[in-house]
Order: sequence, then C-alpha cells, then structure tokens
Amino acid sequence: MEKLEMLYEGKAKKVYKTDKDDRYIVEYKDDATAFNGLKKGSVHDKGVVNNKVSSIIFAILEEKGIPTHFISYLNEREQLVKAVEIVPVEVIIRNLATGSIIKRLGIEDGLVFKEPVLEFCYKNDDFNDPIINEYHAKAMNLATESELAKIKEYTFKINDMLIEFFKDKGLRLVDFKLEFGRYKGDIILSDEISPDTCRLWDIETNEKMDKDRFRKDLGNVEEAYKEVLQRLNI
Ligand code: TMP
Ligand code: ASP
Repeated sequence: MEKLEMLYEGKAKKVYKTDKDDRYIVEYKDDATAFNGLKKGSVHDKGVVNNKVSSIIFAILEEKGIPTHFISYLNEREQLVKAVEIVPVEVIIRNLATGSIIKRLGIEDGLVFKEPVLEFCYKNDDFNDPIINEYHAKAMNLATESELAKIKEYTFKINDMLIEFFKDKGLRLVDFKLEFGRYKGDIILSDEISPDTCRLWDIETNEKMDKDRFRKDLGNVEEAYKEVLQRLNI
C-alpha cells in the first residue's frame, strides 16, 4: 500500500490517502492538547503508545463482533484503516462521574452511576464540541435515526466489553469517548481508544493513568501511558 498526500491533520493524528480509494493510513503524533487546544504540549512516545493501545483494543473489539475501521498495525506510528467519513457526533460513556459532568451537574467526583450515562457532542471545535441530544443530531442532519440506533447499540456493547477487559488489567474504565464513521453504507467504530480518549484509574489506588495527568499537570504522563500499554500486553 502506497502512502499518498495528507488528507487531514487533527490534534493527535494525521490521516493520509493511499493508492487504494477505500484505505487510509493514520499516523499518531506526540502532540497533546486539552481544553479544546487551549493547553498545548507534547508527550514523548505518546503516539507510539496510543497506536499500539488502540490497535490492540480495536482488534479485540473486531474479534468480538464490533465492526471497526482497523485493518492492521503498520509500524510504530501508523495504522492502515478503512477510509470512513466521520460522523460529526462524539459519543461519551460515563461509568463514574468525573471531569466535565461534575461541574455541569454538580455531582460528587467519583460517584458510581446506577447505569452508564451516554452523551452526544457535536464535533465542532469552534463551539467547543457542545453537548447535543438525538433530536439535534437528526435535525442538523449529523446522523440518521438508524445510524444513532447502531451507534448506541455498539457503544453500550463496547462499554461492557472494555469494563471487563480493563478490570482484568487492574484498571477501572471511568469514561471514554468514541467516534464512528460511515463506510460502504455501514456504521463502523473509528478514531482511537487510548489513554487520550479514556479515563483509566488503577483499581487498587485510584491513580489516574490517562490524559488527566497532562490536563491537570499531575506529572509522569509518559510513564502512565507506558504502564497502560504494559498491562495490556500481559
Ligand atoms: P470530559 O469529562 O472532559 O467531558 O471527558 C469525558 C471523556 O471523553 C474522557 O474520557 C475524555 C474524553 N474526551 C476526549 O477523548 N476528547 C475530548 O475532546 C473530550 C472533551 C473528552
Ligand atoms: N481533545 C481535546 C483537546 O484537544 C480535549 C481533551 O481531551 O481534553 O483540547
């Protein structure tokens, strides 16, 4: 597969065209941003770790019946993926309350929800990815009713699988963000699942092992990401 021109550069990844219309190459960068790009930095080897973590998780989800964009791990920073059109709706699942929801709703930090909370956000940096509901998504033509139904079904299944998967590795899956894409008429899981897009707390100590270490200047960001990868490989 030949890597051709760059199609898109995001905050953490670059997407390249290939000589096949239905394949992209995704390259993971070390750049780190938070608060919609207000805080900028870089974490040594973050791209290498996230590429590996996301490849491992997508391969597992695919094996368990979730359709994904993942095709293969190419090298330390690159993956071959299906060329999707990203649905401009971010999906967040929260098992425990922390982060933006505690400020928005006045909930106690660390509260365990009675059932997982699913939120949709409109993927629009100019407006800070605002929360929307399904009516906005349909009315604004961001996704159809049947696409939203599939997205919800896959998201809850992924949550169930990943809670167990991470528990086995001594990690609590607090919350995470997913993105889906359109590919040949289907909705498939896209983007990445990594310590950039999940909150993962050590089950014993509640130590944060994810991007909150960067967001909140907690230190040892690289070490925490590498620890997550190491636990996944066991
Ligand atoms: P939040 O508490 O800041 O809304 O974040 C919820 C989850 O979504 C958390 O696991 C981090 C993830 N997330 C992203 O992956 N990208 C984003 O742009 C934001 C705001 C959150
Ligand atoms: N990904 C977002 C940003 O780049 C927000 C975050 O992850 O906190 O700013």
